[in-house]
Amino acid sequence: MNKYLFANWKMNPESEQKALELAKAIREGISQASFSPSQLTVAIFPPFPWLDKIREQLKNSFLALGAQNIFWEERGAYTGEVSPLMVKDLGCEYVLIGHSERKIYLKETPEMLNKKLSAALRANLKPVLFLNPPEDLGEATAYLQKLLQGNEVNIPNVVFVYEPPEAISTQGGKTPSPEKITKISSLIKEALKNISPSDLSSEMIVLLYGGSVNKENVRKFTTELGLDGAVVGSKSLDPEEFLAIIKNYVS
Ligand code: PGA
Repeated sequence: MNKYLFANWKMNPESEQKALELAKAIREGISQASFSPSQLTVAIFPPFPWLDKIREQLKNSFLALGAQNIFWEERGAYTGEVSPLMVKDLGCEYVLIGHSERKIYLKETPEMLNKKLSAALRANLKPVLFLNPPEDLGEATAYLQKLLQGNEVNIPNVVFVYEPPEAISTQGGKTPSPEKITKISSLIKEALKNISPSDLSSEMIVLLYGGSVNKENVRKFTTELGLDGAVVGSKSLDPEEFLAIIKNYVS
């Protein structure tokens, strides 16, 4: 199965020039790395204003592009919002949905995330859905049911991320134990099987980990726990560190 490393730049860097330098360093580094794109998908998620220029810069490279957010409508009077069609038109393949920072600062609710997920799938974008489920299977199933309502058949087309908010580097970086990650990962997969209308095997579910991932711990949080990859925040803003994360992950 394919593996994933996603670079979530969040609201960084503050200038186009710095964003282009960062993308260029990653692009150049990756062209020397020894892995094939069928083994590993590396995607970067820059802020909206830099997407177009970065798309140009990533042309003919292994790197995929993603957006950090979309609105749930395609067009209309929604001041300040960005349509999934615009994001698709800019060359994005992926879109982040439900990152905990948006739940905390923008008060995004499960209903909003459900509408964004549907909008992403309609626009042929691959949704990357962040989760921090309750630890009880019944509650986790209800929580996932709310997020995925109407899209249950599309579970294999969604990239899920288990990311406890307190594990994020800028929120304290309190990472869960490997046992806890394993327990929650199985719980997510069981809950998804409960709501899937067809026979869904664990292998059909793509599940990544996010929260304070760096070059030393990337394998511990992914390969060693049987997960399919990671979302990297702060450490993706340092090209050397991010390239080392890629190298350590695939080696
Ligand atoms: P972090 O961020 O790697 O800085 O902890 C991860 C994320 O918020 O997606």
